[in-house]
Amino acid sequence: MANAYALGEAASRTTGQVDALFLFITVVSLFFFLLVEGLLIYFAIKYRRRKGAEAAETPDIRGSLFLETVWILIPTIVVASFFYYGYMVFRDIRTPSPGATDIHVVGRQWLFEFRYPDGSLSINELRVPAGGPVKLILSSDDVIHSFYIPAYRLKQDMVPGQYTTLYLHPDKEGTYPILCAEYCGVAHSTMRADLIVMEPGAFAAWREKKEAPAGLSLAEQGKALVEKSGCLGCHALEGKEKVGPNLGQGFGRKVLLADGTTVTADEEYLRESIYDPKAKVVKGYPAVMPTFKGSLSPDDVGAVIAYLKSLSGEKEQDTEKGVEKAVEKEEREGKEAPSAHKGKELTETLGCLGCHSPDGSARVGPSFQGLFGRQVELEGGGKATADEAYLRESINEPKAKVVKGYPNVMPEFKGKISEEDLSALISYLKTLKR
Ligand code: CUA
Repeated sequence: MANAYALGEAASRTTGQVDALFLFITVVSLFFFLLVEGLLIYFAIKYRRRKGAEAAETPDIRGSLFLETVWILIPTIVVASFFYYGYMVFRDIRTPSPGATDIHVVGRQWLFEFRYPDGSLSINELRVPAGGPVKLILSSDDVIHSFYIPAYRLKQDMVPGQYTTLYLHPDKEGTYPILCAEYCGVAHSTMRADLIVMEPGAFAAWREKKEAPAGLSLAEQGKALVEKSGCLGCHALEGKEKVGPNLGQGFGRKVLLADGTTVTADEEYLRESIYDPKAKVVKGYPAVMPTFKGSLSPDDVGAVIAYLKSLSGEKEQDTEKGVEKAVEKEEREGKEAPSAHKGKELTETLGCLGCHSPDGSARVGPSFQGLFGRQVELEGGGKATADEAYLRESINEPKAKVVKGYPNVMPEFKGKISEEDLSALISYLKTLKR
């Protein structure tokens, strides 16, 4: 089923499944469309009004049980087969794949940010080895985005304040576009990323070359947060219980709630329970946990959940396999000297060009052309010279000095790009001086 609907080659097993389902529905629908329309035209001609036939009386037909049964039964079977087939494919695509590598994905106006288990980050580039399954945990920082991989025929909404998930089966090497498929603002059409599926050997070799990412893995960050946030006052890791359930009790288990219903302790349940602990209280425990909304950022919650998963043992084997180690930072290695060329590439990979044009044309933010060295008027009065210090500050903390007349929407890049990258970006911006 390659190239069905011009959406590209079969790059994953989900591609073939979805294409076959669509083909089935299309062919069956087409058959009935032609049958019904064909009979309509045929009867319209055959029983058309003829001259001199006006007097003929219409036959008195009161109904036919046989016919009615047939025309109820056949469409019911056809529609039920659509549902059944569709449901089987849906179930297969949504069923968790054991041993999947977790990657957190955040949608933001107007870029995708990928966060790997080793704590490293990348923007608009998702690198995975061919073979093993990957679990994406999707959320949004602002409005609803939709994570769409046409080559895999997969699409999933990214909703602020909620986790959604998507399982990938990267079977075939290559580079595939990822698009945002939900209108999310002026630069929606530029919100794109690349899915780069590498041969496992090449992936491992590429990973080898990377330095270990600075800082802690995601689970280690989560451990520090759990200790710092006072969680352990009420939750023991294992052994004798304190006020709340033990944290090491097993991610993914079914828990019985105070209201008698059950829920699976998955990412979304844990996220909700950290932000809104009273929403779903585990049976037998007092509803006394405070909310951590405001004290733990969405990124922090992602780290805490990675830690809780590591406690349950489910993820243990993952530390040796998958994307964990040092995926990323290829383009921002910082080994080479800061150069305008690299800065130019960074403006593409970091998604800057979604909002800033390099050629003076108007987009959401000020154009890069002629920006360096210029006097800019600031929102709220005052002026600033767009020198190195100003650009550095505006990339790290865009909200500090917003240029007058532009919306205050740029995300912070603080901690997301290295010093070298910052320098490279600035040296590139210098070359665009008018
Ligand atoms: Cu994000 Cu459209």
